[in-house]
Amino acid sequence: MADLYKDPIGTAQEAAQKLAQITGKPSHDVVLVMGSGWISATDALGKPTHEFAITDLPGFSAPTVTGHGGVVRSYEVTHDGKSLNVLVLLGRTHLYEGKGIEAVVHGVRTAVKAGCKTVVLTNACGGINRDYRVGQPVIIRDHISMTGVSPLIGADFVDLTDLYSKRLRDLVKKEDSTLAEGVYVHWRGPAYETPAEINMLRTLGADLVGMSTVPEAIAAHSLGAEVLGISLVTNAAAGVTGEKLSHTEVMEAGAAAAGRMGELLRKVLNRL
Ligand code: HPA
Repeated sequence: MADLYKDPIGTAQEAAQKLAQITGKPSHDVVLVMGSGWISATDALGKPTHEFAITDLPGFSAPTVTGHGGVVRSYEVTHDGKSLNVLVLLGRTHLYEGKGIEAVVHGVRTAVKAGCKTVVLTNACGGINRDYRVGQPVIIRDHISMTGVSPLIGADFVDLTDLYSKRLRDLVKKEDSTLAEGVYVHWRGPAYETPAEINMLRTLGADLVGMSTVPEAIAAHSLGAEVLGISLVTNAAAGVTGEKLSHTEVMEAGAAAAGRMGELLRKVLNRL
């Protein structure tokens, strides 16, 4: 069996083969990575054909964060006579868990190796932009990496001009023209930002702050997949309202918005 840290792409390939074996589906078309609070949004997709622990696939370890499930589901989503094999990763690995960047992007790499040409990354985040409200989904237009950590190794000079695909963003806006688009900043965490850091990030042009998504977007794009990012604002960022931040509040805001998020995802899948 390949070693995730010595051969991350080979390990993703092995995990993709095991996925095909478990599900009996030679390939998947789309992957949805479900962030904190997004997990019950998958109810809108109906009943999965398969569900199993992510640790059944090579290279994955059990999640360490409450609300990050560590479960894989496979769905067959049909619309207008067309059917898509949709892979759903309930939960993800974050940089702050200390498992390394290879573990952070192993899920999306596995999905792309399994055939997924579309990668949908969801997350919970703090709203830096004062116009945003808790419970509001925002389409990611672009990002700023405050970690500077890349999943790419070597002279892999990937262009990121259209990282968050304009085609996919436009397609989502056709479903809901009221959706805002914003710039997401990747913060390593696990501590939330200070109010001074949030002011700095706003000055830099950020609208949203969270601890995920950016490395996965880069890894997926570099393998040729088209990326869509949707953030759910679960709290006002530090200092915006003066309220303290808590993981419980983040999870509760996610749960409250799950119905709307699920509907949105279902509509997006119907358009793919
Ligand atoms: N900051 C960073 N990550 C987050 C936040 C936040 O305010 N809310 C949810 N994830």
